[in-house]
Amino acid sequence: MDFVLPHLFFLLILLPIFSIAQSNGNVTVGKSLTADDNSTSWLSPSGNFAMGFRQLDQKDLFLLSIWFAKIPDKTVVWYPRLDNPVPRGSKVVLTADNGLVLTGPQGDELWRSITIIGTVAYGVMSNTGNFVLQDSNFNNLWETFKYPSDTLLPSQTVERFGVFYSRKSETNFSKGRFLLRLRDDGDLVLNTINLPTDNPNDPYYKSGTTATAGDSGTSSPGKQLVFNNSGYIYVLRENNQTFPLTKVTLESTADFYFRATLNFDGVFTQYSHPKSSNANGSWTALWSIPNNICLASLVSTAGSGTCGYNSVCTIRSDSRPKCTCPKGFSLLDPNDEYGSCKPEFIQDCDEDEIRQQRKDLYSFEELINTDWPMADYAFLTPYAEDQCKQSCMEDCMCAVAIFRGASCWKKKLPLSNGRVDSRLNGGKAFIKIRNNNFIPHPDPRMGSPKAQVEKKNRNNLILMWSVLLGGSVFVNMILIVAICLGIFFIYHKKLKRPMSNVNSMETNMRCFTYQELAEATDGFKEELGRGAFGVVYKGAIEMGSSVPVAVKKLHSSFQDFEREFKTEVKVIGQTHHKNLVRLLGFCDEGLQRLLVYEFLSNGTLASFLFGDLKPSWKQRIILLLGLREDSCTYMMSAAPRLFIVI
Ligand SMILES: *[C@@H]1O[C@H](CO)[C@@H](O)[C@H](O)[C@H]1NC(C)=O
Ligand SMILES: *[C@@H]1O[C@H](CO)[C@@H](O)[C@H](O)[C@H]1NC(C)=O
Ligand SMILES: *[C@@H]1O[C@H](CO)[C@@H](O)[C@H](O)[C@H]1NC(C)=O
Ligand SMILES: *[C@@H]1O[C@H](CO)[C@@H](O)[C@H](O)[C@H]1NC(C)=O
Ligand SMILES: *[C@@H]1O[C@H](CO)[C@@H](O)[C@H](O)[C@H]1NC(C)=O
Ligand SMILES: *[C@@H]1O[C@H](CO)[C@@H](O)[C@H](O)[C@H]1NC(C)=O
Repeated sequence: MDFVLPHLFFLLILLPIFSIAQSNGNVTVGKSLTADDNSTSWLSPSGNFAMGFRQLDQKDLFLLSIWFAKIPDKTVVWYPRLDNPVPRGSKVVLTADNGLVLTGPQGDELWRSITIIGTVAYGVMSNTGNFVLQDSNFNNLWETFKYPSDTLLPSQTVERFGVFYSRKSETNFSKGRFLLRLRDDGDLVLNTINLPTDNPNDPYYKSGTTATAGDSGTSSPGKQLVFNNSGYIYVLRENNQTFPLTKVTLESTADFYFRATLNFDGVFTQYSHPKSSNANGSWTALWSIPNNICLASLVSTAGSGTCGYNSVCTIRSDSRPKCTCPKGFSLLDPNDEYGSCKPEFIQDCDEDEIRQQRKDLYSFEELINTDWPMADYAFLTPYAEDQCKQSCMEDCMCAVAIFRGASCWKKKLPLSNGRVDSRLNGGKAFIKIRNNNFIPHPDPRMGSPKAQVEKKNRNNLILMWSVLLGGSVFVNMILIVAICLGIFFIYHKKLKRPMSNVNSMETNMRCFTYQELAEATDGFKEELGRGAFGVVYKGAIEMGSSVPVAVKKLHSSFQDFEREFKTEVKVIGQTHHKNLVRLLGFCDEGLQRLLVYEFLSNGTLASFLFGDLKPSWKQRIILLLGLREDSCTYMMSAAPRLFIVI
């Protein structure tokens, strides 16, 4: 017993001292906090607010911040605007000359409170949630209330030119896309910005507190955004009149916490939370501006709107937006549901041209009361719904057709400001979606029917197109030549492997007479197809046994015909590939020029590539390289650009 008592006694005198040191909110120069698992914080006297490092979901990252210390989720109310959270071992020190200085584990400076005139005597974590740096004469040199992050607290004000940003997402504290500011004309506005610059798009909310002449005489411009001590928020005008934002009657600040936050989705909301620790409180939204951010009346010409590009905004009952990708589109960043949507298919004018029947290629997804008010490139009126759809279907530029009343708008990608709007009275949006991304195996050697075109391959394709379309003709030529050379060298050996029954045909191309070919095709009787260069007929020739052939009879009306023909014979004659149709011979007699190919019963390349059942890019590679399916995988990651060759 006698050794316990002194310890107890020691504890009893220590505890009160300890709690006093914790609760007067006074932080002396030289004090510091370190970001680690046992990180302490600086508490306000009431214990309601704390400043310190918060551990983020990624356990080794920390955020210097101020939070509600008595609320279980420790809601963050302030943080310095850094590009990234800080790593474990980072440190914040209160210095006399520079105020708060945040350094990384290696001592590199990451942030400091704005340079101040005067010498800091101490810092105070006050009961209002404001962290203040004062000199020895109690003058405020710097305070967090003057540099809001995304949240305002009672007793905080925002002056003219004052600005604050949303965060990127609920858990990512980087600068977001939305901005709230009291403009110099007195208007309180919300707008999106063009990251990484601050350049604002047109506002999606305006308080209208400018010096304009209205119905009730001249109004006085706003000079301050005030969150008063009772929790009411208003714009204070120069004539001391107020423009209230809080229009509801509030409970007492003795029983409730209040805050107002520019949420990461662009909605500015005032919240309350019961203080009583035995109440199972949560933050309750009291009001929000704008009321419906999806329909925010002023739509900017630049920027994606509330949601990302190609996305559709619907408003939820709590006035917060929900963003959805339309059918045929998916999230660009799967972790950012408020971000842009990318089409899961490619609309390509060249390809559309090959397919005469575009109706087979695309179909429409119909959405009611949905619109993307921008991105029109054609406005057809008066026009019927069927005409509208057909016009979009036949137009390879058209991504979406909007039909309302007797009017038709054609839109291109990317779509912006997408929203559901019941005021459209059943107006329709027709989204043009490519029909199928499915293909059964065209060749039994390729194993079981592979279903969907793999996402990765599509990405590679998109990348490839952008590389090719973005580059100059010269760059593209070099690229293609390089690819062809690469393939030639890599597969040169492989292709030299012994061929079966066609080995002899491969090595010596035969020169036919016109008469021979006329007989072989039974007088050019059975036509297989027509191309820009000639007509293809079916036939059979004797080469040991009777071999079925396709005879291409070239039009003679070309300029450069001679050279064209020789080139084709030379190039194709020298190309040997398991999956490429072989040139068996030719005929060059006066004006008659014919090419004799091995006959393939599977139809034309075009119908294979652009038909309903498109081969996946993986299958194309397999075909291209003459590989077996299992040996193909490494090629996918190694050389996505190979896709261009087919
Ligand atoms: C904070 O501490 C300094 C120095 O110890 C002292 O002068 C000042 O009065 C204290 N301020 C508060 C608010 O307690
Ligand atoms: C944190 O506290 C635990 C136990 O209280 C201790 O084992 C650990 O060493 C501390 N870590 C640091 C970085 O101080
Ligand atoms: C937060 O978002 C930014 C911008 O999108 C990104 O660069 C950063 O990596 C994100 N940070 C975390 C911790 O996820
Ligand atoms: C805060 O503003 C409201 C509404 O304008 C007003 O009724 C209330 O008296 C104000 N409270 C304080 C402490 O100024
Ligand atoms: C507005 O109120 C402030 C402080 O209450 C006062 O100093 C100022 O003269 C008032 N201005 C007008 C135009 O009434
Ligand atoms: C708080 O919530 C828990 C579980 O959600 C419940 O068991 C408890 O009774 C609640 N307490 C109060 C005071 O509402």
